[in-house]
Amino acid sequence: MAERLRLLLVDDDPASLHLLERLVEQEGFDVLKAMSVEEAERVAFEFHPHVVITDVVLPDADGYALMGRLKEKLPESEVMLLTGHASVERAVDAIRDGACDYIEKPVVRSRLVASLRKARQQVALKLENLELRNRLAAQVQETLVGQNPRIEEVRRTIERVAGSDTSVFVEGESGTGKEIVAEMIHRLSGRARQALIKVSCAAIPENLLESEMFGHEKGAFTGAAYSKPGKFELAHHGTLFLDEIGEMKPELQAKLLRVLQDGKISRLGSTEDREVNVRIVCATNVDVEKAIAAGNFRNDLFYRINVVRLSLPPLRDRLDDVPLLVTHFLSQINRKLQIGGVHVTPAALEKLQNYTWPGNIRQLKNVMERAVALRQGSVLDVSDFVLGESPAAPKSGNNLVIELGTPMEEVEHRMIMAALGACQGDKEKAAAMLGISSRTIYRKLGEKE
Ligand SMILES: Nc1ncnc2c1ncn2[C@@H]1O[C@H](COP(=O)(O)OP(=O)(O)OP(=O)(O)O)[C@@H](O)[C@H]1O
Ligand SMILES: [Mg+2]
Repeated sequence: MAERLRLLLVDDDPASLHLLERLVEQEGFDVLKAMSVEEAERVAFEFHPHVVITDVVLPDADGYALMGRLKEKLPESEVMLLTGHASVERAVDAIRDGACDYIEKPVVRSRLVASLRKARQQVALKLENLELRNRLAAQVQETLVGQNPRIEEVRRTIERVAGSDTSVFVEGESGTGKEIVAEMIHRLSGRARQALIKVSCAAIPENLLESEMFGHEKGAFTGAAYSKPGKFELAHHGTLFLDEIGEMKPELQAKLLRVLQDGKISRLGSTEDREVNVRIVCATNVDVEKAIAAGNFRNDLFYRINVVRLSLPPLRDRLDDVPLLVTHFLSQINRKLQIGGVHVTPAALEKLQNYTWPGNIRQLKNVMERAVALRQGSVLDVSDFVLGESPAAPKSGNNLVIELGTPMEEVEHRMIMAALGACQGDKEKAAAMLGISSRTIYRKLGEKE
């Protein structure tokens, strides 16, 4: 598969920028542009270009300063310098400082092409290394910790679908590990060498989200001083993680649906179509089926993105995994802080296992970090863990007596009714109490949602 690499061009002369853009595009790079060092840094830190070609003389600082900053913050990027005839000597020095090549102005096409091919090779090497490192990291840490059957099922599904291009829909409360799942899918896929681009549909203001996703051309709207690729383009051949998809506004949902159907996008302010080959992983912590019923989410879009569905259970439904997670986070923290030997008493562990964790695994992780940070010795006991109220914990006195021999269906029904009674008819809460989804309650009661 031909790699699409991102290349950032930095030059304050629009004509030269335009010329270079054409040449570089012909070589198969996706082009980003900037006209000052400040702008170049901004674009580079956001889009992580594989290659940067920068003019030496720029309005706010010089290309060497830019190179220094990039080498520091984005060591994976290759930097090439455009120099005038007079400054060749300095450019040679720059190569010693880590520049990949320099090109004399006026640019000769064949010379530029040769340099670009060299840069491409360097990048390929680095990517290969990165992929190896990623694979290793995937094995070492970023797997989902847990032995609860529901987590094992999720893990098996991830392994089964990662290799295909199937859209995956991940649902779960906040802090249950949706982002980890997206990262695992990407890393275990054939797209691991390309980018995993994340978009939080809730965090970006509605009017910006469209240009964020599909990009824009210069002048497409007030303030669009330069053209900019969208997240879809950046994720070309890679994975696009659409987080909090349930928050996406209807108008954009329609546009997204079209892109998914056609496999093409056009930047705002452009009529040109660009093909994008992107694997989609979506996540939500709101009940999308409810949003559909309420008319806030398009059914046809849901049908597209919900090809494989992964439901991450809340932590209170897998409290059996708490000890394992505690051990996992403790050793993670120990590694990070280079300390050893901090451990949790059995009584404290019991406390953690009897809590309902409204903030799920993220909350557990924070609680662990806090306890370690404030610890007085190497033992963490009950008082070291400060937990909030347990809203969904069953109160004592809510016992249900069921005679042996009662048919299972009847047991379930009475259990659900009792839970509903204890929760004043709130199906969400009752479901949480029983460790099942509210959908299951509706189904068991033969009701429509
Ligand atoms: N099974 C797990 N094993 C180990 N760590 C986990 C697991 N699940 C989640 N975590 C950790 O918990 C934290 C929250 O996970 P993550 O960011 O993936 O949650 P999320 O579902 O995306 O939450 P939100 O909806 O709030 O974005 C992260 O630090 C993650 O590393
Ligand atoms: Mg998340």
